[in-house]
Amino acid sequence: MKKLQKEVKEVAHGKPIITEDDLSKMMYLQAVLKEALRLHTPLPLVTSRESTQDVKLMRYDILAGTQVIVNAWAIGRDPTRWVEPDRFHPERFLNNPIDYKGLNFEFIPFGAGRRRCPAIQFVIVVNEFVLANLVYKYDFAMPEEVNGEELDMTEITGFTLHRKSPLLVVATPHLD
Ligand code: HEM
Repeated sequence: MKKLQKEVKEVAHGKPIITEDDLSKMMYLQAVLKEALRLHTPLPLVTSRESTQDVKLMRYDILAGTQVIVNAWAIGRDPTRWVEPDRFHPERFLNNPIDYKGLNFEFIPFGAGRRRCPAIQFVIVVNEFVLANLVYKYDFAMPEEVNGEELDMTEITGFTLHRKSPLLVVATPHLD
């Protein structure tokens, strides 16, 4: 949060609100959102596909007409693709061309191919805009001085992914 606030404040230069044109200058903000989408992929199982021809993939024979369910959540935490996959470490996306547009198959929070999410640009701008303004205006802390590292990030599955325990944070407005 501190690192993100530093970047946001530097770009904002004291203006009252972050605007959309500021977002492209916030590289750390973009990395934070990518990392959140990698670790906590909101739609863990991308919409299913059907194979159109027989395929041999690794040691599996997949016949034409097979329903294939792609586990984007597991792919995002694959230890053969990611260093320390369970660690929240946005820096991994700095100076790194990996993007969520469906061309880097190790990172597909919006799916891939013709049926990938059509709302990617909308979602990213809204998320970056809201997060940048929240950390610009507030400090966030756990209630009763609980260490942020102890925040329970356990997830429960469903069609979309949810927190197991509700998120309780105390927001304190900045005075500077
Ligand atoms: C963080 C937010 C979101 C995530 C992570 C997300 C992710 C996804 C994923 C993984 C798919 C399936 C892609 C595939 O099968 O390859 C999908 C499909 C879709 N999404 Fe999103 N989505 C988000 C927000 C939205 C929003 C806000 C809208 C609408 C305003 C939207 C509209 C759609 C539609 C219409 C499809 C179906 C596309 C098709 O089947 O051709 N999504 N989304």
